[in-house]
Amino acid sequence: MFAPTTKRSGCATTLVASCRLLCLSFQLVTNKKRIAVVPGDGIGKEVVPLAIDVMRASGASMEFTTFDWGADRYLIDGTTIPSDGFAMLARDFDAIFVGALGDPRVPTNIHAKEILLGMRFQMDLYANVRPVRLLDASLCPLKNAKPEDVCFTVIRENTEGVYAGMGGNFKYGTPDEIATQEDVNTRKGVERVIRYAFDYARANCRKKVLMADKSNVMTYAGGLWQRAFKEVAAEYKDLASQHLYVDALCLQMIREPQSLDVIVTNNMFGDIITDLAAALQGGLGMAASGNIHPGRTSMFEPVHGSAPPIAGKNQANPMGAILTGAMMLAHLGLTAEAQKIEAAVLEAVRQKNTTADVGGKLGTCECARRIGEQLSK
Ligand SMILES: NC(=O)c1ccc[n+]([C@@H]2O[C@H](COP(=O)([O-])OP(=O)(O)OC[C@H]3O[C@@H](n4cnc5c(N)ncnc54)[C@H](O)[C@@H]3O)[C@@H](O)[C@H]2O)c1
Repeated sequence: MFAPTTKRSGCATTLVASCRLLCLSFQLVTNKKRIAVVPGDGIGKEVVPLAIDVMRASGASMEFTTFDWGADRYLIDGTTIPSDGFAMLARDFDAIFVGALGDPRVPTNIHAKEILLGMRFQMDLYANVRPVRLLDASLCPLKNAKPEDVCFTVIRENTEGVYAGMGGNFKYGTPDEIATQEDVNTRKGVERVIRYAFDYARANCRKKVLMADKSNVMTYAGGLWQRAFKEVAAEYKDLASQHLYVDALCLQMIREPQSLDVIVTNNMFGDIITDLAAALQGGLGMAASGNIHPGRTSMFEPVHGSAPPIAGKNQANPMGAILTGAMMLAHLGLTAEAQKIEAAVLEAVRQKNTTADVGGKLGTCECARRIGEQLSK
């Protein structure tokens, strides 16, 4: 197992353990899992096929269907996602595996918005779950940090906030221009993601849920988050609850990451703090995530983007995508296979069979191949 048992919880703190809650709606099913694959752009197109090879090597019973949605397709025929795309994904697949979207040839990023934000918003994947695990002390930029010190999960609200796209420009392009970007927070949206965080903490033997906001200055939205958090926390008497302003949380993530357990926050703060969190685990190339709506087809993607400067150079770290694959398998109830993958990644990190971003000398393909070989041992 790639992460040790924590002193805090006495629970195994693997991605697999983190996904126990996610498995609830997918009980044990022996059928082949149907996975829709969107490699997307840039390094997404490199790491996704390799992560699929690793999932296959784990022995998981899965069937992959790849879709060419991304910048190349958009530039050929203007398609971002077909009109029935989201309905088809929800109807025909058990999960979606995405690489990354974003390409300098599409400066508006319209395809990425329609595909990625489209999945999150239109499929109502309201909980963005990002486990933060340090696999090996050598990967952490913090002095003397041990793997058990960096072991927490961020749950980011994924369908509202400033990402809702509400706002506009007035007197566009003139010296008098006004731009507004509205922060949309609904009682339903806030409460359900907070409840998800408490359920997640309970299912994973965690002890505490911390809510981060900026309610000292953003009083209307922050007030709603505060009230909902207090009310939901009162229903979970077995769990501790804590509040921090998001700036104070950033400080705590660096100075005392071992104090963190489960963090819940809004869309934008979650976006920002998870990049900081990724740095604690070795960088964007190591970070996995799931976009979840319990009981529905959910989507899994590495945290990193399409990294245009290194795309096509066999330099990208495939571990974030491979660990995302393990997270997806755990979500689908394929726990043993997920654990095998995590163990193989941990072994690769320990043996320094990694790409340069985390101190190794291997290329993308070789790194993934070694992980696949480890699985067959
Ligand atoms: N979920 C997504 O699809 C997603 C997320 C973030 C950014 N993007 C898009 O990706 C494009 C580039 O964005 P960015 O540069 O801000 O973020 P990025 O994650 O692509 O890259 C940030 C930095 O991390 C490095 N990096 C990222 N992944 C790596 C990996 N697997 N191995 C080694 N190094 C890695 C990159 O080289 C770069 O230095 C943009 O179009 C952006 O919109 C997409």
